[in-house]
Amino acid sequence: MIPNHHYDELVSSYLFYNIDQKVSAYVKDHPDAKLYKMGIGDVTLPLADVVIKALHEGVDDQSKKATFHGYLPEVGADFLREAVQGHYKERGVDLDIGEIFVSSGASDELSHILNLFDKKNSALVMEPAYPAYVDANVMEGREIIHLPSSRDNGFLPMPTDDLKADLIYICSPNNPTGAVFNKEQLKAWVDYANAHNSVIIFDAAYECFIADPELPHSIFEIPGARTCAIEICSFSKTAGFTGTRCGYTVIGKDLEREGMNLNAMWVRNRTTRSNGVSYIIQKGAAAVFTPEGQEQIQKNIDVYRNNAKVVMAALDELGLWYCGGKNSPYIWMACPDGMDSWTFFDKLLNEAQIVGTPGEGFGDCGEGYFRFSMFGDPDDTKEAARRLVELLK
Ligand SMILES: Cc1ncc(COP(=O)(O)O)c(C=O)c1O
Repeated sequence: MIPNHHYDELVSSYLFYNIDQKVSAYVKDHPDAKLYKMGIGDVTLPLADVVIKALHEGVDDQSKKATFHGYLPEVGADFLREAVQGHYKERGVDLDIGEIFVSSGASDELSHILNLFDKKNSALVMEPAYPAYVDANVMEGREIIHLPSSRDNGFLPMPTDDLKADLIYICSPNNPTGAVFNKEQLKAWVDYANAHNSVIIFDAAYECFIADPELPHSIFEIPGARTCAIEICSFSKTAGFTGTRCGYTVIGKDLEREGMNLNAMWVRNRTTRSNGVSYIIQKGAAAVFTPEGQEQIQKNIDVYRNNAKVVMAALDELGLWYCGGKNSPYIWMACPDGMDSWTFFDKLLNEAQIVGTPGEGFGDCGEGYFRFSMFGDPDDTKEAARRLVELLK
């Protein structure tokens, strides 16, 4: 037996391990201290009532012979796929139900989808980036093309003539920077991908935080995307499903490379490698798209959005550069006084009891920056913002 030696090539991610170590050491020395946690991008508000009701109904359905469900279609239950289809229609995007695949979450899907692509392809990752993009490809032995971004381009890198990439990851709104591509910028990437036979993997995990009506939520709002893009979506941040697990993926039926149809390949993949997502969870997820569901999830999203407003006001008062926050649950700030991101982490922890995430953990070009997550408690966020101003003014 030969193990997958590509695992040897993974660069150990010390990011959250180091944060945990530092936080644990601080708590040991200061057992009574309250910490203001703005590090991890996990939601804190419970599921919407309408989702809870649907989950209960799903459980009850499974208790009676007449409503019991065994295996569902591997690609997802029609009732959920139709709900997703309706959601896209409201945005002006027409999808065939066969282009929608229910998944157990974006993270699983971002990794599984790679099975569609030869290992000789290269994968372009715009950095700073969600670390899974690089790691999932390294595990399979693909070449990674790191495309750094900076404050100068608003952390939104654009394609250039000399760029060569087969798979292209786009995360918009971006984790960790909160930057969002506008339609024109996305069109440039779509045109690049169509011209170079590349495929874009569009991670829309944070689309629900887009407030600006001009910004695209889906890459399928861009002409030409159907022939070059796969969109990966999640209920995690949209509807608080991080611990419940559900998402969906869109692959147009006209996405083909070398005469192979990627939609048909994905149907084949799912029907072979998966037996689908639980009926109960899909019932809960479908409730998200009802009018009450949309209203209730919006209330939670607004809580996180208000957190962002509070932190942005503090950073404005301090005159510090940042991006994100307006259309994203993340705020990406330049560390003050040219501090490196771990020094700033230590300062915030030790002097203000605030925990954030050092930018260096998202790629080399993240050094000198710092990420705050807006998924915390509103009162804690207000106090953290007050402490930030007091510490740095
Ligand atoms: C950019 C991005 N994509 C995907 C995911 C994973 O989402 P899911 O919970 O659906 O697996 C995350 C989670 O934080 C994320 O930040």
